[in-house]
Amino acid sequence: MSREIGIDLGTANVLIHLKGRGIVVNEPAVVAVDINTNEIVAYGQEAYDMIGRTPDSINVIHPLEGGVISDYDLAEAMLILFMRRIQNNSLFSRPVILICAPSQINDIEKQSLIETAERASGGIVYVEEETKVAALGAGGNIMAPKGTMVIDIGGGTSDIAVISQGEIVNSNSLRQAGDYFNQAIVEFVKEKYHLLIGDKTAEQVKIAISSAVLQPEEDLSYYDVNGLDLVTRLPKAVKLNSNDMAMALAEPLEAVAQATESVLKKVRPELLADIVESGILLTGGGALIDQLDEYLSGRLEISVIKVDQPMNSVAIGTGLMLELIQSGEFEKSKPSRWQLFKRRLQQFKRRLMG
Ligand SMILES: Nc1ncnc2c1ncn2[C@@H]1O[C@H](COP(=O)(O)OP(=O)(O)O)[C@@H](O)[C@H]1O
Ligand SMILES: [Mg+2]
Repeated sequence: MSREIGIDLGTANVLIHLKGRGIVVNEPAVVAVDINTNEIVAYGQEAYDMIGRTPDSINVIHPLEGGVISDYDLAEAMLILFMRRIQNNSLFSRPVILICAPSQINDIEKQSLIETAERASGGIVYVEEETKVAALGAGGNIMAPKGTMVIDIGGGTSDIAVISQGEIVNSNSLRQAGDYFNQAIVEFVKEKYHLLIGDKTAEQVKIAISSAVLQPEEDLSYYDVNGLDLVTRLPKAVKLNSNDMAMALAEPLEAVAQATESVLKKVRPELLADIVESGILLTGGGALIDQLDEYLSGRLEISVIKVDQPMNSVAIGTGLMLELIQSGEFEKSKPSRWQLFKRRLQQFKRRLMG
């Protein structure tokens, strides 16, 4: 097994990055649980494919939701299942693992995550904030004594952060993100077309034709959806277009713009000058909404740059961050010798106790 492993434990997707191999796992962060036996019957893509199509006895759950770990036991179980995929039995591999967790995770959860992953891997585990690693993966020089700003629009939260010399100096987090956008689309379609569609359908339309701004007729994209006619109570098909998306998303995207503005207002003048010069990095799955970069640039009057492969920024960043940690350049998240000793002792005790 590769010694350096990065895990992006997102609310929507889990990605695993191995040094020298790149991204080897990229699947939805869901588990399917049999409610009678409480057993996990599927996880990742397989569980995601069951959404809306399972018998009543099977519940498909997002253990991380709204930027918090909503079901801690399931989140850990899911993490272990994903980690097992990349593990081999080499006795001597003692991996170094960096987990990027949602922004709202508390210290107890963080510690518990570290212990779970250490137990599962026999290695050393670090936990870092997603925005920092996302900025690094998106090409930001987060260690420099200047300001780097990132907007990461994930499934559960949109996270905004200003980073300087490896530290987050200003930040904000809001629930107007991917899942919320899906909900806004469901509501919009209900009101405009009197049609009830599922969350998953809303997500498919969003991915296919979403736009942050209204477009002229000739540039519109279309997508056919099936749902339940709320008047006749019969199945009905409707053709949605990208302007429907722009209208449905207007309110939550404005909220993202306002949250970004409120961070900008608090940034120190020198750092603000850096940000104005280099622009704001836009990442996470939400960055893929068509023309969201233009919309935010216009709204904030600062250039907002959609990064390459926005859904992979964190995973790519884990590789770079692990290099910084290993080389000692990023001291802060490196545990002290004493902490390392305590961790080893704990591992040893666990092994003795089986
Ligand atoms: N092309 C797209 N347009 C708009 N939203 C998208 C697109 N592709 C993915 N998404 C959304 O991005 C979100 C997942 O982004 P991701 O950065 O993986 O989230 P997380 O870090 O929370 O796991 C989901 O809500 C998904 O619907
Ligand atoms: Mg993410």
